[in-house]
Amino acid sequence: MFVSRTVKENEPQLVRKLYDKSKEYSDVADLTLGDPDIPTPKPIIDAACRALGENKTKYTANAGITELREAIGRDVKKRLGVYYSTDEIAVTAGAMGGLYLSAASVLDPGDEMIILEPHWPNYTNMVKMTKAAPIYVNCLEGAPEELAGKIERAVTDKTKAVIINSPSNPTGAVLTFEQLKGIAGIAKKHDLWVLSDEVYHTIVFEGECRSILEIEGMKERTILIDSVSKRFSMTGFRVGFVCAPKEIASAVATLEENVNSCACMFAQYASVAALENSSPLEKAICETFRKRCRAMTNELRKSKNLVLGDAVSTFYLFVDIKKTGLTSEEFAYGLLDEKHIAVVPGNAFNKAGEGYIRIACTLSEEKLVAAARKIVEFADKERS
Ligand SMILES: Cc1ncc(COP(=O)(O)O)c(C=O)c1O
Repeated sequence: MFVSRTVKENEPQLVRKLYDKSKEYSDVADLTLGDPDIPTPKPIIDAACRALGENKTKYTANAGITELREAIGRDVKKRLGVYYSTDEIAVTAGAMGGLYLSAASVLDPGDEMIILEPHWPNYTNMVKMTKAAPIYVNCLEGAPEELAGKIERAVTDKTKAVIINSPSNPTGAVLTFEQLKGIAGIAKKHDLWVLSDEVYHTIVFEGECRSILEIEGMKERTILIDSVSKRFSMTGFRVGFVCAPKEIASAVATLEENVNSCACMFAQYASVAALENSSPLEKAICETFRKRCRAMTNELRKSKNLVLGDAVSTFYLFVDIKKTGLTSEEFAYGLLDEKHIAVVPGNAFNKAGEGYIRIACTLSEEKLVAAARKIVEFADKERS
């Protein structure tokens, strides 16, 4: 029997490999997946239970329930100052669903999409699933003000879109407003779509995090992809959304019919409750991550071989391990075997990530600090 080229070209993810391997150890500290241990806040759980009690267990419109699209519209207006009507919003099965369906809405076979690396690995596979080609621009090398120039040099007559992710998984870096203006200028000049993945937008500890949507003329060519997953610790609810010009929002909803039909109904009602009471819930989650990242950073900086900047957002630390003399995979697999700590090798996020590891601060502060001590021991061990 044969399988399709789509399957053959779908690269197995190193993140998952490390996660799966970590399950071989019963005492492992698993810092691989971006799935924090923080419980979903009680008001959201209560809303989900109420919805189940009311038999909200059916199909919904492909674009999602109106109450949720209205709540998303109010939330985006409050945070970014940009108004979306309900027909410019499509609810999806997580941001993952929104990203893939957005890509499928704007890419034809043979087109190109620019991805800033290191990047969340799903972007590569999702572009390949549309039979378009991912084109990479290295974000770690060079000065921040050179980014727009590098992106422009990657544009060809096949380029249809660029995807940005600020704050970034895996680096936690936030694009400055100047960088966003540079990217907006290129998108306008070359008539490109910008897919803006903002799933970490509310997890920012220091400085400002702006959206490309705030720039004049960008609502028309931006596809905003977001979700309740990280923001409210609701990864398992699988609710995300796309805000975009009507043709794209409606294309996403049409494609959704053939993939999921709709996002889970009671989870959509729970998401309304999350967005309606968003401020205190997201502040508490952000504060938890701020404390965890700070504690972990302070501990890791005791190593002579690990280099890391101040954590400003997300719950990921992207740590430079080059001074250890190990490759990213040697470090990650060695650390797992010797210390039973699972982290992700930086090359999981493409070539630019070689020489780094990503640590997801998804456990309690106490467990993270204990893990950090073992990581330092491993990093500073004499190797002949
Ligand atoms: C950058 C980025 N975008 C999207 C997602 C997917 O989020 P969701 O759970 O809403 O599908 C993730 C999950 O790790 C992510 O890191």
